[in-house]
Amino acid sequence: MIKPVGSETLNPLFVYDTDAHHKLMHEAESLPSVIISSQAAGNAVMMGAGYFNPLKGFMNLADAAGAAEKLTLTDGSFFPVPVLCLLDNIDAISGASRIALRDPNMEGNPVLAVMDVEAIEEVSDEQMAQMTQQVYRTDDSNHPGVNTFNNQGRFAISGPIQVLHFSYFQDDFPDTFRTAVEIRNEITEHGWKKVVAFQTRNPMHLAHEELCHMAMDRLECDGLVIHMLLGKLKKGDIPAPVRDASIRKMVELYFPPNSAMITGYGFDMLYAGPREAVLHAYFRQNMGATYFIVGRDHAGVGDYYGAFDAQSVFEEMVPKGALDIEIFMADHTAYSKKLNKVVMMREAPDHSKEDFVLLSGTKVREMLGKGIAPPKEFSRPEVAQILMDYYQSLDS
Ligand code: ADX
Repeated sequence: MIKPVGSETLNPLFVYDTDAHHKLMHEAESLPSVIISSQAAGNAVMMGAGYFNPLKGFMNLADAAGAAEKLTLTDGSFFPVPVLCLLDNIDAISGASRIALRDPNMEGNPVLAVMDVEAIEEVSDEQMAQMTQQVYRTDDSNHPGVNTFNNQGRFAISGPIQVLHFSYFQDDFPDTFRTAVEIRNEITEHGWKKVVAFQTRNPMHLAHEELCHMAMDRLECDGLVIHMLLGKLKKGDIPAPVRDASIRKMVELYFPPNSAMITGYGFDMLYAGPREAVLHAYFRQNMGATYFIVGRDHAGVGDYYGAFDAQSVFEEMVPKGALDIEIFMADHTAYSKKLNKVVMMREAPDHSKEDFVLLSGTKVREMLGKGIAPPKEFSRPEVAQILMDYYQSLDS
């Protein structure tokens, strides 16, 4: 199987040993503690699950700045985005060398991780603006990722962590949430040698389903890992449980048995387009995928990124050899009325726009909200039904 990034074996930061876990939980209760941001909690969960291997904890400012500017940390290693724990108030932990990080997303704010504090640094406006521009390619506060990144506080606490909890993801999505370790194990159990991963934060319509089939066929893969984001989204995006149900239905009905795994990870969406695509590829390598699909406007929002910026970024910014996972760069897929199947648009050069079934996201939402199923050339009826039920429940 493909090696993790930066090490021979995967080193998840979750404390798996029951005794050690118990002791640490006990110790954590008497440590100075702080409730962290949701984005930082996502970072802790990802590190706990092995997805951010070989990171050992939250970055200091020098590393974060290097990641933002040139995807390189001060020791020369590769990481695509800053992994920061930003706080607005450090009174409760001032002077402490060992602290507990508490979950902002669960009742009672349970301890997510214990940190050995190496530094607490104040981030200047200028440093914040620079990292924002580099990662998100904009400083527009209307960009949902920019807004979240900039509203966490200005103190960066850094140092190694030991993770004790996977937040709400394990309780709320017991069948779907998986660590990178678990996905590697399941790939081995299936006996899959070549595996393609599909990132999604949306339900999968016919174009997405066929995109996965195309990737599997062309790359001669034994298996597909659908790996959905389970964390926070912007307003208007479809909640994870609804998306999960619709994807399960699609796989049950339209994929051969044992060809696709339905899985998810606990992280809030950054909407950082190209930069997030690199992060996505990074952690799919850590979970054991050989290939990663990057299609049209991957991890994008609004008009902030060009439709294929998330593909060109791999050429432009990822140093050769930094990643072993290969990117399956897909063109816009859509149903061709002439060929009666979903195709990549660039592979049908004789077609005009009218030859494809193209519906905007707004149009689809409007139809679903009115209880009108989109055409079967756009969405499987069973998938459409789950989405219609959801949209209609919003009105009642
Ligand atoms: S994302 O934010 O998680 O990337 P989404 O769930 O919509 O959003 O997309 C998942 C993957 O499918 C991404 O790689 C995206 O580029 C790709 N994709 C979505 N729609 C299309 C399409 N019509 N044609 C080609 N690729 C697509």
